[in-house]
Amino acid sequence: MPSTDFVVARNDLQQCKVIETQLPEAAALPDQALLVKVTRFAFTANNITYAVLGDHLKYWQLFPAPEGFGNVPVWGFGEVVASKHPGIAAGETLFGYFPMATHLVIEAADVSKRGLRDAAAHRQGVAPVYNAYVRVSGDPAFEGKQGDYQALLRPLFMLSFLVDDFLAENEFYGAKSVMLSSASSKTAYGLAHLVHARRIKVIGLTSAGNADFVKSLGCYDEVVTYDNVSSLPTRSAVAYVDMAGNSPLRATLHRHFGEQMKYSGIIGLTHRKSSPDEPEQLLPGAKPKFFFAPDHIRKRAKEWGPGGVDLRFGAAWSTFVPNLDRWMDVREGHGPAAVQRGYLDTLNGRVPPDQGLILSLSE
Ligand SMILES: NC(=O)c1ccc[n+]([C@@H]2O[C@H](COP(=O)([O-])OP(=O)(O)OC[C@H]3O[C@@H](n4cnc5c(N)ncnc54)[C@H](OP(=O)(O)O)[C@@H]3O)[C@@H](O)[C@H]2O)c1
Repeated sequence: MPSTDFVVARNDLQQCKVIETQLPEAAALPDQALLVKVTRFAFTANNITYAVLGDHLKYWQLFPAPEGFGNVPVWGFGEVVASKHPGIAAGETLFGYFPMATHLVIEAADVSKRGLRDAAAHRQGVAPVYNAYVRVSGDPAFEGKQGDYQALLRPLFMLSFLVDDFLAENEFYGAKSVMLSSASSKTAYGLAHLVHARRIKVIGLTSAGNADFVKSLGCYDEVVTYDNVSSLPTRSAVAYVDMAGNSPLRATLHRHFGEQMKYSGIIGLTHRKSSPDEPEQLLPGAKPKFFFAPDHIRKRAKEWGPGGVDLRFGAAWSTFVPNLDRWMDVREGHGPAAVQRGYLDTLNGRVPPDQGLILSLSE
C-alpha cells in the first residue's frame, strides 16, 4: 500500500521533498490496527515550531522519516479505510495529530465512544494529546468550515485559553495592559479575544505589513509596529506575552519598561530570532520565563476535576468561533505541489494573516 509523504531536512528546513513509503495492505494489518487516509490538515507557523523544536521536544519521533529528514506533525482529519479493531468501522472520521502524508497506520488502543489512542511504540513518551484521536463522524462541529476552524485553531486556542486563565489567576501580575508580539498570529488573537473580554487593555505588536489586519480584528485596544515600541508610554505596569520569540525585541521592551514589566512569558517563535548574546536574566523587570502549557493544564485538570477543562474551554471556544467568518479566509490546497508551496510560504512568512491553509497530499 503506497503512501505519499512530505518530508523536510531536519538541519535545513528550506529543503523538502515528496517521497513514497510502503504501508501494509488492508488484509495484512496487525490486530487492532487501522489504516487511515489523511483527508485534510491545517498548516500554520505553529507547525514550523514543531519542526524547529523537532529534536528537542521529540516531534520528529512521532512520524518516522528517512535518515536526516522529518515529517512535520499537523492537526487534521483522517478517514478509516480499513480496520482490524472490532470497535472501529471503516468510514469513520478521526480528528487529531497526523503526519504530512496520504496515509497513517494507527495501533488503536483505549477505544471509547469519544476517541482512541495510538499505542505505537515510537509515539510514546510525548504529551498524551499528541497520540489522542477524537471520533467525530456526524458531529456538525467538525464538518465543513467548522471542521477547518477546528483544525486551524483548536490546538492554538487551547494555548490562548490556558495563558488567559494563567494570567487571570495571577491577577495579571498587577499589569494594567497585556502586550502580545506577532499579534497577527492565530494564537495571539485568540488570547487577545479572551483578555479583551476581561476588560484588560490589549496591545498588539506586529510588523508594518500586518498592522491593518490586526487593527481590523477589534480585539486589540492598540496596535504598534515593531519599529515603534519605544513610543509606548511607561506610566503603568505591563505584561508581555511573546509569540514571536524575538530576543532583540524582548530586550528592547524590557529596557523600555524597566520595573513596569511585571510578567514576560515566552510562548512562540514565529520570528525564530534568538540572540545568545542577550543574557535574559540581566534584563530589567520580570525575568522572562517559558510558559509550559502541560503544567498549567495538569494543575487545572486536578483543581477543576473530570471534564472541567473541556467544559471551560468549550465555553471560551463558543465565544471565539463566531468571529472567524470575518477574521479568516480558509484557503485549500490539494496535491504535493500545493503542500510544498503552503509549507515554504509558511516557513518564510509569506502567508497573509487573514488566511488559514487547509492542505491535503491527495489531489
Ligand atoms: N507553546 C505552545 O504550546 C504553543 C501553542 C500554540 C502556538 N504556539 C506558538 O505561537 C506562535 C504562533 O503560531 P500560529 O500558528 O498562531 O501562527 P500563525 O497564525 O501562522 O502566525 C502568522 C504570523 O506570525 C508571524 N510570522 C510567521 N512566520 C514568520 C516569518 N517567517 N518571519 C516573520 N514573521 C513571521 C507574522 O506575524 P507578525 O507580523 O505579527 O509578527 C505572521 O502574520 C508559533 O510560534 C507557535 O509555535 C505555541
